[in-house]
Amino acid sequence: MHVLVLGAAAGGGFPQWNCNCPNCHRARRGSVHHWPRTQSSIALSADGKRWLLCNASPDIRAQLHANPALWPSELRGSGIHGVLLVDAQIDHVTGLLSLREGCPLDVWCTPNVHSDLTSGFPLFPMLDHWGGLRWQPIELSDERTVTEFAIPFLTDISLTAFALHSNAPPYSPRRGTPSCGDNLGLFIVNRQTGQSLCYAPGLGQPTPLAMRFLAAADVVMVDGTLWTDDEMQTLGVGSATGQQMGHLALDGPNGMMALLDPLPKRTRRIVTHINNTNPILDDQSQAASALKAARIDIAYDGMQLTL
Ligand code: MLT
Ligand code: MN
Ligand code: ZN
Repeated sequence: MHVLVLGAAAGGGFPQWNCNCPNCHRARRGSVHHWPRTQSSIALSADGKRWLLCNASPDIRAQLHANPALWPSELRGSGIHGVLLVDAQIDHVTGLLSLREGCPLDVWCTPNVHSDLTSGFPLFPMLDHWGGLRWQPIELSDERTVTEFAIPFLTDISLTAFALHSNAPPYSPRRGTPSCGDNLGLFIVNRQTGQSLCYAPGLGQPTPLAMRFLAAADVVMVDGTLWTDDEMQTLGVGSATGQQMGHLALDGPNGMMALLDPLPKRTRRIVTHINNTNPILDDQSQAASALKAARIDIAYDGMQLTL
């Protein structure tokens, strides 16, 4: 199984167009210690030819251009054979607009996400004018249930969706009171090698189920949005805390780093969906050193894994 990180930044990207925080300021000026990143997305493939896009970021055009594996091999085509959405946030879905020339396109997502994308952010009805998105539902009956499913072109790969405690997007009627299906984690297994990836870029709170999948995976790729919960407030760039947005900060006794600590020694730990304010984006920062000491890698655009 091939895993390609197309973008490792949170909403806004790095640097963010209207942000002059210390990280963005330096990244914009070409600091070698502040590597730019596009907005959060990975692609998965069994054969290296047919890829599932997990989240369609607003930066999709540049991401597809930067990754030859996703280039068309015929007169018109693409390595992207389908899209899976883990939530309905702008940074994970807006790229569907840029894929309009490839419609009809199969899109796997939950009823909650589909509902937000037919109402508050009506991508599904809008793209009907270009051939449409074919909804492939991922049903989750409650927070303790998991749904195992297959994607036809991902041979010998099984996917298991589980609910994450996070938040729904600002245009959702469930903003502030999210329910099961607003945010997914995925446990992805290559049946041929037995190796697995737990992908959870929106993990806002540890749940027993999420912890079980993290503990079982060979590679975990989890939420690295913020270093501290009040980071945006402290820097004066925003009023929302990580918890309000549905993100678990990395630092602190109950933070993501502490959560990853008891995982088996062999587990590869990667953080992604990194906000531009996060000090780990400065590779000379204490925060970056702390992650390194904890054997946690920071995802970057173009990162590749083989499982
Ligand atoms: C999030 O992950 O919380 C959102 O992407 C934030 C945003 O879109 O600004
Ligand atoms: Mn996001
Ligand atoms: Zn910034």
